[in-house]
Amino acid sequence: MTKDWGRKDLLGLEGLGAAEIEALLDEAASFQESPPKNVLAGRTVAFLFSEASTRTRSSFEEAALRLGAEPLSFSAAGSSLAKGETMLDTMKNLEAIGVTHFVVRHERSGVLEDLAPKVAASVVNAGDGWHEHPTQALLDLLTLRELWGGFKGKRVVILGDIRHSRVARSNLFALKKLGAKVTFCGPTPLVPDAFAAIGAQVEHDVEKALKGADAVNVLRLQLERMEQGFVTSLADYALSYQLTQARAALMKPDAPVLHPGPMNRGVEIASEVADGPRSLILKQVSNGVFVRMAVLAACDRGRTAHV
Ligand code: CP
Repeated sequence: MTKDWGRKDLLGLEGLGAAEIEALLDEAASFQESPPKNVLAGRTVAFLFSEASTRTRSSFEEAALRLGAEPLSFSAAGSSLAKGETMLDTMKNLEAIGVTHFVVRHERSGVLEDLAPKVAASVVNAGDGWHEHPTQALLDLLTLRELWGGFKGKRVVILGDIRHSRVARSNLFALKKLGAKVTFCGPTPLVPDAFAAIGAQVEHDVEKALKGADAVNVLRLQLERMEQGFVTSLADYALSYQLTQARAALMKPDAPVLHPGPMNRGVEIASEVADGPRSLILKQVSNGVFVRMAVLAACDRGRTAHV
């Protein structure tokens, strides 16, 4: 139980303390052991997704159901958002219908910082632009913590399209708070040296980055966000940065491979690595349900404490 959680929203991990992150991981782990029933009975969760999702949306829906909440069916594309209604008006109208929690994915970075204080419902960030994807990072950390017990002295490589990645930013903030080192690796246009200013070690040579690492989290090339010129070709990228078995073998023995999905097989990761013995990719997905249960429950405690 996250006793000290006083927040109604989870918008990112940058502003959370190490103890808050650990408490969410502890609560998620406790739900694996003994799932609570009806913690969110009488609550209604709306999913406002204006970008595509498989894992995040499905696992949030499953998490809400397992906690006894009612999921509210809502499609951004078929809603009055498409007629120009603002996000805030949409959220206030859904609140009037009885929504107590919003799970939001949006293409604009930081959009929720402005909206969340203006509604009484809990707001959970399911990925905003290039900004943060906090529950993805929490499930990544839960998966690594199961293996390691803790993060002190560990070095995690995040490999790929960091520039466009909310997952990389949330992982960096959380891993550093818990005592790990983080190396961002990829070609300069996708991993600008300026990332050193927010605490990442930046390395453009993939072999150097992976040598002796404790884990690698591989990110997909976000082709839908990419302007011309970030990579010369997918084939060139794969040649220089794809996580192959030979490259994975440069890490510590048994060092795990993570990927938030969806994967571009044969581009940023070889299929034999994605499906191989080091891969924790499907374990990440399973852990996502428990992390999202913990986040929904914790935000509900914060919300009701404010009412
Ligand atoms: N990792 C992740 O956010 O996957 P989806 O886009 O499928 O939700």
